[in-house]
Amino acid sequence: MNRPIDPSLLHSSEAFAHYLKNAAFRVDERAEAGAHTQGQRVGISRPHESAHLHVAGEAAYIDDLPELDGTLHCALGLSPVANGRLNALRLDAIRAMPGVVAVLTGEDIPGVNDCGSIIHDDPILCSGEIRYLGQPLFAVIAESREAARLAAAQAKAAADITAEPPVLTPQQAHELGQYVLPPMHLARSTNEGGARRAMDEAPHRLKSSFYVGGQEQFYLEGQISYAIPKEDGAVHLYCSTQHPSEMQHLVAHALGVASHAVHVECRRMGGGFGGKESQSALFACVASVAATRLRRPVKLRLDRDDDFMITGRRHCFWYEYEVGYDDEGRILGAEISMVSRAGHSADLSGPVMTRALCHFDNTYWLPDVSMHGYSGKTNTQSNTAFRGFGGPQGAIAIENIMETVARELGRDALDVRRVNFYGKTERNVTPYSQVVTDNVIHELVAELETCSDYRARRDAIAEFNAASPVLKRGLSLTPLKFGISFNVKHFNQAGALVHVYNDGSILVNHGGTEMGQGLNTKVAQVVAHELGVGFGRVRVTATDTTKVANTSATAASTGADLNGKAAQDAARQIRERLAACAAERHGGRAEDVRFANDQVHVNGKVLDFKAVVGEAYIERVQLWSDGFYATPGLSWNKDTMQGRPFFYYAYGAAVSEVVVDTLTGEFKLLRADVLHDVGRSLNPAVDVGQVEGAFIQGMGWLTTEELVWHPQSGKLTTHAPSTYKIPTANDCPPVFNVRLFEGDNFEDSIHRSKAVGEPPLLLPFSVFFAIRDAVSAAGGHRSNPPLQSPATPESILRAIEAVQAAGS
Ligand code: MTE
Ligand code: HPA
Ligand code: MOS
Repeated sequence: MNRPIDPSLLHSSEAFAHYLKNAAFRVDERAEAGAHTQGQRVGISRPHESAHLHVAGEAAYIDDLPELDGTLHCALGLSPVANGRLNALRLDAIRAMPGVVAVLTGEDIPGVNDCGSIIHDDPILCSGEIRYLGQPLFAVIAESREAARLAAAQAKAAADITAEPPVLTPQQAHELGQYVLPPMHLARSTNEGGARRAMDEAPHRLKSSFYVGGQEQFYLEGQISYAIPKEDGAVHLYCSTQHPSEMQHLVAHALGVASHAVHVECRRMGGGFGGKESQSALFACVASVAATRLRRPVKLRLDRDDDFMITGRRHCFWYEYEVGYDDEGRILGAEISMVSRAGHSADLSGPVMTRALCHFDNTYWLPDVSMHGYSGKTNTQSNTAFRGFGGPQGAIAIENIMETVARELGRDALDVRRVNFYGKTERNVTPYSQVVTDNVIHELVAELETCSDYRARRDAIAEFNAASPVLKRGLSLTPLKFGISFNVKHFNQAGALVHVYNDGSILVNHGGTEMGQGLNTKVAQVVAHELGVGFGRVRVTATDTTKVANTSATAASTGADLNGKAAQDAARQIRERLAACAAERHGGRAEDVRFANDQVHVNGKVLDFKAVVGEAYIERVQLWSDGFYATPGLSWNKDTMQGRPFFYYAYGAAVSEVVVDTLTGEFKLLRADVLHDVGRSLNPAVDVGQVEGAFIQGMGWLTTEELVWHPQSGKLTTHAPSTYKIPTANDCPPVFNVRLFEGDNFEDSIHRSKAVGEPPLLLPFSVFFAIRDAVSAAGGHRSNPPLQSPATPESILRAIEAVQAAGS
């Protein structure tokens, strides 16, 4: 903790080595060893269930599966135009190209030409209306991937298009009143005049706008589907997806068959980050249509540039807001319009906007508030889920307001944030009427303020800046509160299937998908704990629609909450049957039978787990079970936007310190201190990994990752790592103190843990506002820096010029 920063590290890759040395994680190993001998299998740092395979290159991703004899490869022909009409496709020349077996268009889809997840407005292959540059017009199926790609690259010559100018920005769409779904409104007032009157009567007012850019998921494994035709019109699809059941459903629609004819399987993804929640569907449908039509296996694996050009990503948001506040910075009234760039179709833009509106409050009591959400329809890729799912876009808007209000009042931003925090027993109702009953933000922030030395460093930075004309430092502490549950109530359910074989080994299957986040590791821990066995006995298998039906996407950070509970339910039933059988044979009461450390304690005897299983098999006891879970207590009225959409909240806070070079606009994160709430962690090592990963990923969103569409053609010009910059190991801060907050989930979640996947993405707000603080210092803190996100060197420089001009 609190190590001084060695300036020589600031611009070298040694920073990363230093980080690795110091980050060596750091659970209390003695406590864990104790827990272990007591038979505890949760609350323990376990390596990822596939770690040994990941590092050896032996973990199989879909492109690693052996290809069946006769496998064909598919590539998509993309629209060279962003808006217009497709008059005709001249495909004869493409059909005649070497290796080409078939070229399919929208008319060749036997069922419905649509792969929309909620609203059916998403053509698989263009049906006449050109909606964005990169839209798939046709599919080439060829003997090799290269042949397919060469042929698909002829799209421009093949397509006869009448082009029209594209609508590209959320502002343009908003001006035209062009949305993918009706506007949403969420308001709460404590006076008859509502937010307007609260603002009018407030001592101070602020009216401004703000913008945050979008973000590419940049999963390491691109979108891929491998479809194998089966007898009687059925298909077996290997698909890199967070949502096998939805792929099953949409493929069945596209083929015009029932769901029972479609079998979807996914052992693991090389990352999803929301990008494979709905958008794996187009590729799943095309591969399945081609495979069933040609009666040969068909693989569709996207090239990275095509993945960028075809699929959507995080929505950028444009905000116009007005707030009224008092002398201490207390927000008395607020009104905000949020306009997102939804792209050409609805996809998940509705739930994303809902989550954005439900996170504008973040950790703050807003007595009178009026929010409006517009999902702008643009001629761009259809934007979709990305870690946080609108939550980050909602919360950063109020954090930007907190920072601005603090600067207007000349107060420390932490003090302004604190006077606005939700109370514990009053001032604790969200704008959507959910009562915040589990608020730990006061104690969490107090602890972080102390252990990060916030106040002393604030003074040290002021001193540094006074003596440093070119390099300026900045500091910021930002808090977060993130609602856990899908904001569509019926998605909050899960199933599992657990088999105990008669040699005592255990196979677990559940509806969740593994994308690197450690879900299978956690579910295996839950099952091992429930049956009192070592991890070696438990194996988790591929997600498979033939094993657990009607599953929800692994999303909204609920994977372990939902599937952990379902697997626990299944394992518990088996344990109870084993206990009854053991008591029957060895005497004593079934309730007194204990399972721990691969042993079963029954009526004073200690038996091997394996022996008890063997006996139960002989006694004809069912040794496998299904399990089910539905999150209790949820309600949501989507018309009034009121109810209890979340089972509970996760909390966290981070302090970041940056240095900005005022001549180049470059910045460096010097130190980050994080305190994050995961309830009673199921696996502290996995959870710390999620927190660190989300922090760096969120920092990329707010700083280096910039999406640029050509203003005339509408072409996404940043479609590869050469032009789109995600963070690297060198961007990790040399001092990165990540700690888990101590405390159980107030709700009866799986072993009182909390979801961890998405909430920490909000932690690096502190990086963005630390940069803004440093920019402000460059202007002598005399004006509010007009810095928007991403804070690229160019935009930092522009903001510095603005504050310096305003100050002179
Ligand atoms: N971590 C890794 N390594 N890879 C991923 O793709 N996706 C994130 C998060 N962490 C992701 C990840 C997103 S968007 C979500 S919603 C959750 O993991 C989903 O998994 P969980 O619900 O099991 O936490
Ligand atoms: N998160 C992720 N996916 C979703 C959600 C959510 O809150 N709601 C509907 N789909
Ligand atoms: Mo995560 S954005 O809910 O897949």
